[in-house]
Amino acid sequence: MESEKVNIDPWSSTQSTDYTRIIEQFGLSNMNNLSLPDPSHLHRRGIVFAHRDLDIVLDAQKTGEKFGVLTGLMPSGRMHLGHSMVIEQVKWFQQMGGDVTIAVADLESQATRGVSLEKGREIALTEYVANYAALGLNPDLTNVYFQSSRSEVQRLGFQLGKRTNLSEFEAIYGFRGETNLAHVQAPMVQVGDILHPQTEDYGGLRPIVVPVGVDQDPHLRLTRGIASKTNWFNVKENNGPGVLIGLSVQDENAELLGQQPNGRIDKKKVASIFAMIVSDLAELGFSDINSNPKQGTIVVPSATKRDMNKIRFKLLNLERKLGGMGLLAPASTYHHFAVGLTGEKMSSSKPKTTIFLDDDIDSVTKKIRKAYSGGQSTIEEHRRIGGNPDIDVAYQYMMYFFEESDSYLAELNSEYRNGKILAGEMKQICIDKATDWMENHHELRAQTEHLVKEFLADDAL
Ligand code: TRP
Repeated sequence: MESEKVNIDPWSSTQSTDYTRIIEQFGLSNMNNLSLPDPSHLHRRGIVFAHRDLDIVLDAQKTGEKFGVLTGLMPSGRMHLGHSMVIEQVKWFQQMGGDVTIAVADLESQATRGVSLEKGREIALTEYVANYAALGLNPDLTNVYFQSSRSEVQRLGFQLGKRTNLSEFEAIYGFRGETNLAHVQAPMVQVGDILHPQTEDYGGLRPIVVPVGVDQDPHLRLTRGIASKTNWFNVKENNGPGVLIGLSVQDENAELLGQQPNGRIDKKKVASIFAMIVSDLAELGFSDINSNPKQGTIVVPSATKRDMNKIRFKLLNLERKLGGMGLLAPASTYHHFAVGLTGEKMSSSKPKTTIFLDDDIDSVTKKIRKAYSGGQSTIEEHRRIGGNPDIDVAYQYMMYFFEESDSYLAELNSEYRNGKILAGEMKQICIDKATDWMENHHELRAQTEHLVKEFLADDAL
């Protein structure tokens, strides 16, 4: 059968959960072949299921080099459990040594949802940042900023517009003639969000990882494409052995790379650029370097695929020295969406589908009681056939949010499947766990409320 294409739309209220197909179609990498230090429950349970270039970040972490984490929040509705998954990942990266930047997408929220900047700020602080504090982000190592007050983000968003066009937006987002331009601008601002931590004023060149739900992947594809298009030096696998480096001549660098306005080549300039590249490569320890200025290429025969990142990094630094932007494509991780309580998509605009972080215990209890279950319709049948934990919301929420112990979960899973645990019992177990979790969270929230200001970057005060 001809496989249908999955459509990922960051603004849609429906969402594909065909994760295998998503991985294939969009070229994400599986998490299976990575070994993570101290994996969190989201990693251990396969909830964080895919990534792009996460190995670059893990390598930096391993060797004690700097890396950053960036994510963003849309200040419109209330914060619910689904939103906490990204924060759990941010916390995990923070504990591994990453510096953390969080974008409040107040411009996006204003343009696409009609939320005023003032209201957006209030929602961001009371709904989101207050919960981040309670979830355990470290205020000393976290910088929250607003899109509307960080000019570097807006500048980059505008400037990098040059590296894309409407056809690409059509291909990535399905935009058409009647698309409101706010929807065209918002992704460009998000490109600015994602790339700006690499600029000198915000920490300089280092790998940046963006943990998101898979609905945000179109933005990452766009950003990664744009970043690569700005690069002056392309690094790729050679057809023969080794790694091939090529020059990308652009308006910005033509003169510097020896392309004179009259079309002639300034051989001396070309030679000096090639000499710089060769000397940088030699610094990395390569001795066999085939420099071919006439062809505009350099081959490092002994370099392996693993060396490519090192080389890329070095050449981004060189590009910066020469006046280029030197942007590294961002890494990313993707998590599965927890199913909504009702079985449909979880959404803040449908309170029955989710648990808000400030819901009281009473409503949490009621919501879980009414939740979609994977049990059979009669007890007799349930005992005979067993329940299905894969679609049972109570079980799923323990797995996603409330239960730390893998072995206890495994026990619940098998006893549900073999009919020993009934649907109502599973719900009660979940209610007890959720109650503990929520009570603890509310207590932490009260204790950490005073820290909210400390999360704010200087330009957000
Ligand atoms: N567009 C994101 C959302 O709808 C918010 C956002 C803005 C974001 N900038 C970001 C997310 C940068 C990740 C990275 O939730």
